[in-house]
Amino acid sequence: MAIGHPISSARPARPDRPPLRPPKEMAKRRAFGSPAGRIALLHALAHIELNAIDLAWDLVARFAGAGLPRGFFDDWVGVAGEEACHFQLLAGRLAELGVGYGDLPAHDGLWEAAAATADDLLARLAVVPLVLEARGLDVTPEMAERLERVGDAESAAILRRIYRDEIGHVATGLRWFRWLCLERGATPQTVFHDRVRRFFKGELKPPFNHQARAAAGFPRDYYEPLATGTEASP
Ligand SMILES: [Fe+2]
Ligand SMILES: [Fe+2]
Repeated sequence: MAIGHPISSARPARPDRPPLRPPKEMAKRRAFGSPAGRIALLHALAHIELNAIDLAWDLVARFAGAGLPRGFFDDWVGVAGEEACHFQLLAGRLAELGVGYGDLPAHDGLWEAAAATADDLLARLAVVPLVLEARGLDVTPEMAERLERVGDAESAAILRRIYRDEIGHVATGLRWFRWLCLERGATPQTVFHDRVRRFFKGELKPPFNHQARAAAGFPRDYYEPLATGTEASP
């Protein structure tokens, strides 16, 4: 397909439900032991994956005129396909538990990150794949373990599958972030620190999953200097 001249929209089309609430109003997802707690977790994750589909396509559409190589678009179309698969796996698991996507409220925090970085591709790549998706690598293994411990092996298996794919998404984000920086003669780590400080509210929260981040090719000197407090390096 030719890349063409798409017009990206300010907001992606969405179903009427779920109702979107400010992130602060969302209940914490802690009670994994109860079916209601697990349903809330799976619903929140499905909502994240739906946003991830839009975020991948938004990269393709919004930056189509930016003179980027063909491989950039192919990579993000591939990511969008995997995000769609993740959404379907989670929506399918919710259906087995008697719940549809949209039955619970959700928050709009992810699309806010997209809107804040709509004019700066380096900021978008720094915040979405390299902060938010990398954060997913930090928290997903423990969530899968906790689901397994309460006897929900099916949901745990879905989270592990998502985790493996997300390592690839962070790797893709990093590859293009680096490519753009080198193209502009800038040092990737310095640009990363600058964009995260300017475009991401808050600090990066340790503990980090260094093993998964390293598997994505993501070096510590990108994210450790931005972490809350100081972290002892083993
Ligand atoms: Fe995903
Ligand atoms: Fe992803």
